[in-house]
Amino acid sequence: MKVLFVCLGNICRSPTAEGVFRHKLRAAGLDSRVQVDSAGTADWHSGKPADARTRQAALRRGYDLSALRARQVEVEDFHRFDLILAMDESNLRNLQAMRPDDASADLDLYLRRYSLALDEVPDPYYGGEDGFEQVLDLIEQASEALLSEVRKRL
Ligand code: 4NP
Repeated sequence: MKVLFVCLGNICRSPTAEGVFRHKLRAAGLDSRVQVDSAGTADWHSGKPADARTRQAALRRGYDLSALRARQVEVEDFHRFDLILAMDESNLRNLQAMRPDDASADLDLYLRRYSLALDEVPDPYYGGEDGFEQVLDLIEQASEALLSEVRKRL
C-alpha cells in the first residue's frame, strides 16, 4: 500500500504527516508493507529540507524529519499511490484539478476522512510556535486512525 500526504509547500504539514506516519508504521512493524511519501502543490521549496521550526517541533516529540526533501506533486502520483491525503481544502481543490480521469488513487482530506474536530490542518508557516504544535496534535490523532484503516486494508 502507498500513501502520499500533500500540502502547499511540502516543508511544514505534509512532511510532519509523513514523519509521524512512518514512525507509527515502524512501531507497528508495518513499515515494509506501506510506502509513504509527501509532496507540495507548489514547487517553491523543491529540494529543500523541512522548515526548521517544523523539524524542531517534530524532534521534540521524537520524529526525525531531517532526511526529507520537498518535491512538487506530479500527475504520475495519481497512478503511483493508493491514497492521497490533502492537508486543507485548497490543496484538495488543486489536486482535484490535476487528477487524471484514469487515476487509481483515492483522494481525500486527511482530517475529514477520520472525522476529527477540524477538517483542515491549519497552515503554520506565517504564525507562531503554537501553530507547529497544533499541526503535530492533529496529525498524531489522524495518523492513529489512518493506521487502523491501513491494518484493515493490508
Ligand atoms: P506547508 O506550509 O504547505 O505546510 O508546507 C507552507 C510552506 C511554505 C509556504 C506556505 C505554506 N510559503 O508561502 O512559502
